[in-house]
Amino acid sequence: MKIENSVVFVTGASRGLGLAFAREALARGAAKVYAGVRNPAAFSEPGMVPVALDVTDPASVESAAKATPDVTMLVNNAGIAEITGSPFADSAEDQARRIFETNYYGVMRVTRAFEPSLPDDGSGAIVNVLSDVTWRSVRILAPYAASKAAAWSFTNNVRAHLKERNIRVVGLHVGFVDTDLTKDFDVPKANPVDVVRQTFDALEAGESEVLADAGTRALKATLSLTVPGYIDPDVLEGR
Ligand SMILES: NC(=O)c1ccc[n+]([C@@H]2O[C@H](COP(=O)([O-])OP(=O)(O)OC[C@H]3O[C@@H](n4cnc5c(N)ncnc54)[C@H](OP(=O)(O)O)[C@@H]3O)[C@@H](O)[C@H]2O)c1
Repeated sequence: MKIENSVVFVTGASRGLGLAFAREALARGAAKVYAGVRNPAAFSEPGMVPVALDVTDPASVESAAKATPDVTMLVNNAGIAEITGSPFADSAEDQARRIFETNYYGVMRVTRAFEPSLPDDGSGAIVNVLSDVTWRSVRILAPYAASKAAAWSFTNNVRAHLKERNIRVVGLHVGFVDTDLTKDFDVPKANPVDVVRQTFDALEAGESEVLADAGTRALKATLSLTVPGYIDPDVLEGR
């Protein structure tokens, strides 16, 4: 499939990776780009159509899908992360529910609302923005990691279901990317534009999974080892 002439809906398009997805879709000749944003009044990007969307609100999701029946490609990008303390803290369950509401149930909800109108002539696609933490829990991001692992499982299930409708489903896995989400982390970060370009290149090449940085590729390569990277991170360092 080609991005050119497609009609793209990006959730969480106000900034970060979502905005990079929306801009790159336009640059590749998308016929229309809907920017799903929580605050359309504060959003102005040339060539994009802002649509009010809060992925945690079922009515908002339904009305966004109803307003955009011509969408051919859905990018499930909206997501949140929070720094976590102990998994045994009193607040741990509430925090996990909050994160799952956006990162897992949000993806489910939006996919369910948009899926019926996606075309089945080979031009339909869904891109789910996952993470390297899908395969490796990080101590300070444990509920976030769990939500991305759940979203990965959902992605695989949806891919199997939509195969018969000829709709491609792509999972994007990547470590730290330079956006607001990671502003408090002083670590090497991937460039969002580069991550998005790799994702669209993979989609256009007919691939189903994108490993957008070296760390994620190294982690994935350990998964079949007796001691993979999610059990012993030292494996990733070759120690
Ligand atoms: N940055 C990274 O290192 C990294 C790595 C791997 C995966 N990811 C994933 O990439 C995706 C985008 O993250 P980012 O790094 O671009 O973060 P970001 O800069 O913080 O942007 C998050 C986006 O999600 C939107 N959003 C949050 N909750 C929402 C809701 N309930 N309904 C609709 N929109 C909502 C935000 O909208 P507002 O402007 O209204 O807040 C914003 O547009 C997320 O799924 C994240 O988990 C990020």
